[in-house]
Amino acid sequence: MTLIFSYSNLRLSAFICVPFIKNMNLLNIYDYERAAAEAMPETFYAYYAGGVADNLTLHENRAAFDRLKLLPRIFRDVSHISLETELMGVKRPSPTLIAPAAMHKLGHADGELATARAAHSLGVPQILSTLSSVAVEEVTAVGHPVWFQLYIFRDRAWSQAIVQRAVAAGCEALVVTVDVPVQGLRENLQRINFSIPAEILLPNLNRPGDSQDATSLLHLVNQNFDPGLTWQDIDWLRSFTDLPIWVKGILRADDAQRAAAAGVQGIIVSNHGGRQLDTAVTPIEALPAIATAVGDQIELILDGGIRRGSDVLKALALGANAVSLGRAPLWGLAVNGEAGVRHVLQILHNELSNVMAQCGCTTIAELTSDLIFKPPQI
Ligand SMILES: Cc1cc2nc3c(=O)[nH]c(=O)nc-3n(C[C@H](O)[C@H](O)[C@H](O)COP(=O)(O)O)c2cc1C
Repeated sequence: MTLIFSYSNLRLSAFICVPFIKNMNLLNIYDYERAAAEAMPETFYAYYAGGVADNLTLHENRAAFDRLKLLPRIFRDVSHISLETELMGVKRPSPTLIAPAAMHKLGHADGELATARAAHSLGVPQILSTLSSVAVEEVTAVGHPVWFQLYIFRDRAWSQAIVQRAVAAGCEALVVTVDVPVQGLRENLQRINFSIPAEILLPNLNRPGDSQDATSLLHLVNQNFDPGLTWQDIDWLRSFTDLPIWVKGILRADDAQRAAAAGVQGIIVSNHGGRQLDTAVTPIEALPAIATAVGDQIELILDGGIRRGSDVLKALALGANAVSLGRAPLWGLAVNGEAGVRHVLQILHNELSNVMAQCGCTTIAELTSDLIFKPPQI
């Protein structure tokens, strides 16, 4: 297989040194991560891959999935497997979404457009970051469904204008990220002096008079993230938008109940991919208590550490309605743009289908908690 990169509008010399990756066996997400590490400038790879502080939560997000053992059912006629799922009352071809991630142009010159084309071709909702490097209008023009992830700034008029743009662009839902009251201390990035090329812009943030390049805007944004957010801000959002609201970054059952009481559409059980609070509980460990606490009142998406179809199965078995994928599609993007993202999604869908068959399940509804082995209490 020959993979071709195109970086005509970016000054990314390290990429140009590796225009081709030949004969790579890209069979799973780990293969893609290794290929992305080869293909990307070291600092950009570090930005995508890294966690926070001692990276303990980053590693635990994976380890917690690996600790869970499956209890497969037999003799179930698994000739036909369907990944079809319903989310927000809409039938979806699979229980996967693309998680919001800032600046896809660090991975590929087409940035979020490449991701959007791949996601759209498979009917996978893309949650577009506030900090995307392609404007929301250009992304929704590729096709739907696109959801918009919002960071609420101290300047509420600015935040409101961003939401109104997302609504006008046709986004299907609003995802409010609540686990960044302050930025986690990403020492790995400080040590390598991470910086963003001047060509990368954050066009969702356009505000007259501000610089538009990502370096200065990120600085501005970090200064402007509102640490004063409370549950009342859900009412504030409702005062000017009818879009279904999701809250991203919940790990506690009591917060999940508050979210249900606040009337949100759903929550994303997430620790921000291990990039915020180190030693925070992993989403897959937090999920069962949250699922019990909210029952059917709201929908649940889980993200963090999903690299295998069996991870998706485990999350759905423990109560998630769907999962969202953070780094996995970024590795596909960095290796081979739109085709890479599509391949990563297909790999995960194929793996999910395969493990469902082996667990004796033909539909997503059959993924229940008895598929997860519980060691006997002694
Ligand atoms: C490079 C990168 C950038 C991210 N940017 C955002 C963001 O802008 N907004 C947000 O809510 N979450 C962001 N996240 C967190 C993801 O949405 C998601 O919670 C996390 O990546 C899931 O873990 P995983 O990468 O192990 O799948 C980012 C994650 C990565 C890896």
